[in-house]
Order: sequence, then structure tokens, then C-alpha cells
Amino acid sequence: MKRTVIKSTGRYVPPRVVTNDDLAKWMDTSDEWIRQRTGIEQRHWIPEEGGVGSSDLALEATKIALDRAGWTPADIDLIIFATLSPDIFFPGPGCLLQHKLGLNSTPALDIRQQCTGFIYGLATADAYIRSGLANRILLACAEVHSTGLDISTRGRDVAVIFGDGAGVVCVEGIETDQDVGVLASSLHANGEFAKSLMVEAAASRLNPRISEEMLREGRQYPVMDGKTIFKEAVRSLPDVSREVLQKAGLSLEDIDLFIPHQANMRINQFFQQSLKVPEDKVFHNIQRYGNTTAASIPIALDEALEMNIVGDGSTVIFLALGAGLTWGAVLMRLGG
Ligand code: ACO
Repeated sequence: MKRTVIKSTGRYVPPRVVTNDDLAKWMDTSDEWIRQRTGIEQRHWIPEEGGVGSSDLALEATKIALDRAGWTPADIDLIIFATLSPDIFFPGPGCLLQHKLGLNSTPALDIRQQCTGFIYGLATADAYIRSGLANRILLACAEVHSTGLDISTRGRDVAVIFGDGAGVVCVEGIETDQDVGVLASSLHANGEFAKSLMVEAAASRLNPRISEEMLREGRQYPVMDGKTIFKEAVRSLPDVSREVLQKAGLSLEDIDLFIPHQANMRINQFFQQSLKVPEDKVFHNIQRYGNTTAASIPIALDEALEMNIVGDGSTVIFLALGAGLTWGAVLMRLGG
């Protein structure tokens, strides 16, 4: 039977570290407030002068993942790129990454599912592989948030949360009788909450797409109704975990590690308490990276593998909720 496995992982974050104390120099905030509300201690941002896009961060993580998989760029049948912060408005970063890899006809698909980008990307890769449309897929997830944040006190509720970074996985279809790879996935969305977390401008529905007045009002920056996001996350994430477990005929005790999107430490602690799973079964690294949105789960997986917290044979659930709203989970047995 055809199974979709993760052959290798890679991560890359830009070298510039921005601590909570650094943020306190630019806005009215404090290390204590940020740690208490989000768990974040520092994040990595691209250089202040810019010049580095999501596709550049993804390229560095891709080189590591390809090397570990023993693939060359020519082995890739399809690139799936997940981001909410594309290098430019269009074309999407999948094409930019493809070119940087020295390829000129490999298909490249961009998806815009924000924090749920890795989950949608992995479920899509699984569908391509099972249908026989592709067998070796590069799933690249990367974000450059720092150039789009209001780092004055006006934007402090959002700006303190986000970090830049990339996480990449090489996904492959294998023929096996073993119960490995993607065992179940569930995807959801509810556009009713689109305004709860969004960047409004520049927007094609506006003419002009952005004006000086809008820039002055800060409408080019993300706005977030933090309480709604929190409420929806702590409701949906346990539900979608139970849903994938039921689809796969497994129970909570069968899971070695939950790797949630690193949105906010408190959301993931609520999740752990609500499912009544041991604390060490839920992975956290938001302390060091902040919220890297689409990249957060593959970065976390890469670290969990490096730390030997999981390995071949481990059963894991990846799960996320993000802007859209979108949410979902993938249940997977690693190895194969
Ligand atoms: N530093 C200091 N004070 C701040 C900051 C800051 N960075 N941001 C907001 N405040 C102030 C507010 O102005 C407010 O002051 P006031 O009482 O004088 O009006 C006070 O702190 C409390 O603000 P709240 O918004 O009520 O703070 P809350 O406890 O809700 O925490 C937070 C805000 C952390 C955003 C919370 O709502 C939350 O965790 N939401 C979940 C959203 C989330 O995690 N998003 C991540 C990105 S989305 C995703 O990945 C799914």
C-alpha cells in the first residue's frame, strides 16, 4: 500500500536574535508581560535593512533537508510552499524557491493557510502521493514577519508574538505493508472569523490598494482579536485531535508526542490540560523562536528529532489553528 512518509527535515532561522528587552526599547512592553502571556523569551528576525524573503529562509532549510534525504533538487516532483508572508505580492514564493534551487519546470504550488499551512501542506502532499500525481514532494514553510509588524506601542499586542524562520520536510511515497506515514488527517476552516486575525492592506478590493491615510492608520499591519483566537484555539484543537485519532482507530495513549503550532505557550498548555495528557507529551519551543506561523511545526519536528524526543516508530499528532480561521491535524507514524 502507498504510504506518505517524512523522509527528512531541515530548519533555518536568521541569526539576528531579538529579545523581549530589545522590544521594550521600541514599545511600552516588558519581558515579564511577554513571558507571562505568551511564553516567548526571544525570536529571530531578518536584518533590519531587509533584503531577505521567505523563499531565502526556505532555501537554507531546504538545502539541509535535501542533504539529509539524499535528494538533489532534480528529484523533487512538486514544491508546496506555505506562508502568509510571501516575498512579493505575486508570484508566490514556491516559484522563487524553485528558481533558487536551479529548477525550471518542476511544479510549484503556494498555499495561504497561515498557521495551519504545514497541516494543509502535508495533507495535500499526502493526497498527491496517494493519487499517484507526485512521489517526492518538498514541503517548504517559511515566514518573514518582522518587516510587517508595527513595533510601536500601538502594535504591541501582535508585534511581540511573531518571529521569522523556515521549516522544510521532504515527503515521499513508499510501498509498504507497515502502518507508517500519514495515518489520518482532518482539515477545517470558518471564514466567519476572517476579521479576527488579518492584514487588511494592500488589498485588491481597495482602489487605490493602499493610501497614505491608511498607512498612517497602520492598516498595513496585522490586527488580532487575541481573545477570540484564544477561545477558538482551545475549543478546536482538542476536538480535531480526537477526530484524527478516531479516523485512525487510535487513542490518546498511543500518541508519543503532540507537536502543536507554536502560537502561544498558554494555548498549548490549555490544550494539554484539556486532553489530560502528560506535560512532556506536548512539545514547546516558542520560548526561543516566537510564533513562526507556517514554519513553527516543521521547525519543532526538526528539533524534536534532533533531541531524540521522537524517532522512527514514534506516533505523533501535528495540529494547528490560524487565521482564516483554519485549523486541522495530521496523525503520523514516523519512519518507513
Ligand atoms: N506589552 C504590555 N502590555 C500589553 C501588550 C504588550 N505587548 N499587549 C497588550 N498589552 C496590554 C493591553 O493594552 C491591555 O492593557 P489595558 O488593560 O490597559 O487595556 C492589557 O495588556 C491586557 O490586554 P489583553 O489583550 O486583554 O491581554 P490578554 O491577556 O488577552 O493577552 C494575548 C493578549 C497574549 C494576545 C492573548 O489574547 C492571547 O494569548 N491570545 C491568543 C492569540 C494568539 O496567541 N495569537 C498568536 C497568533 S495567531 C495564531 O498563531 C493562531
